[in-house]
Amino acid sequence: MSFPEMTYSLGDRQVARLGYGAMQLAGPHVFGPPADEARALQVLRDAVAAGVNHIDTSDFYGPHVTNQLIKKALHPYADDLVIVTKVGARRDEQANWLPAFSAAELTRAVEDNLRNLGLDVIDVVNLRAMFDTHGPAEGSLEAELDTLIKLKKRGLIRHIGLSNVTAKQVADAQSMTTIACVQNLYNIANRQDEALIHQLAEQGIPYVPFFPLGGFSPLQSEQLNEVAKELNATPMQVALAWLLQHSPNILLIPGTSSPEHLQQNLASGALQLTPDVVARLDAISQN
Ligand SMILES: NC(=O)c1ccc[n+]([C@@H]2O[C@H](COP(=O)([O-])OP(=O)(O)OC[C@H]3O[C@@H](n4cnc5c(N)ncnc54)[C@H](OP(=O)(O)O)[C@@H]3O)[C@@H](O)[C@H]2O)c1
Repeated sequence: MSFPEMTYSLGDRQVARLGYGAMQLAGPHVFGPPADEARALQVLRDAVAAGVNHIDTSDFYGPHVTNQLIKKALHPYADDLVIVTKVGARRDEQANWLPAFSAAELTRAVEDNLRNLGLDVIDVVNLRAMFDTHGPAEGSLEAELDTLIKLKKRGLIRHIGLSNVTAKQVADAQSMTTIACVQNLYNIANRQDEALIHQLAEQGIPYVPFFPLGGFSPLQSEQLNEVAKELNATPMQVALAWLLQHSPNILLIPGTSSPEHLQQNLASGALQLTPDVVARLDAISQN
């Protein structure tokens, strides 16, 4: 048995499969500044120092806060760092998440990301579908993609990705433009996207699960706890190792505001799961 490959292509780059999701760096409810800015900056600097070269963000985290922290911690950026952002939502003053799908809103969102990150061009912009905030729902993304394609032609975006989408929306989008990645909710307990992951793998397209550790409801499972104990690891490390072994096109962006958790998450790449252990873990799925 061998360890899974630890890099994969994303757009025109090769990135480490263990990346970092920056959403947890903003304040409570992903709103406002962090309680401890120095700690947030440290997490970002530690991630890059440990070899992370794929950071997921959005200007609607905070809003603006997460991108400004990334710029403060890491600008000027290392040549190999790929920053992926997302557009399609906005926050109101009560911290709600609302659709922001008009051409003007999408354009402003890309410009806000560029300014707050201190970039001239963004590596990847994911269009985050908002027909249903909590999960993929059918609906046409044609007009919104058309706007992003125009921004790409203007040189503001290098690659376009999709988030919170159905397999049909991915296929429809691919008839309009190249799709660099898909970012949907997926983890060891929530596996609705199984078929989509494997379709994308056949095309060499990365699948980037959000909430890989369960997000706002952290994963809880007796099987995870048991395996973690046997392997002298933590349940979260086992959950990440399972994702890494599940399909070669899965890129991880676990979110944390803790330097200690960051190191634990990055160490999950060294955890080897035997087929017998994988079979036990597969039973966790609720789908
Ligand atoms: N496209 C979308 O719609 C969408 C939606 C949500 C998120 N995202 C992206 O996906 C990324 C990942 O999602 P997420 O951050 O929401 O959820 P997640 O990675 O599943 O889990 C984050 C939670 O797990 C905790 N955690 C992290 N590492 C841990 C460890 N080693 N041990 C114990 N607890 C640990 C974090 O708390 P601590 O801070 O205390 O470590 C935090 O509460 C985000 O950062 C964001 O970039 C995208």
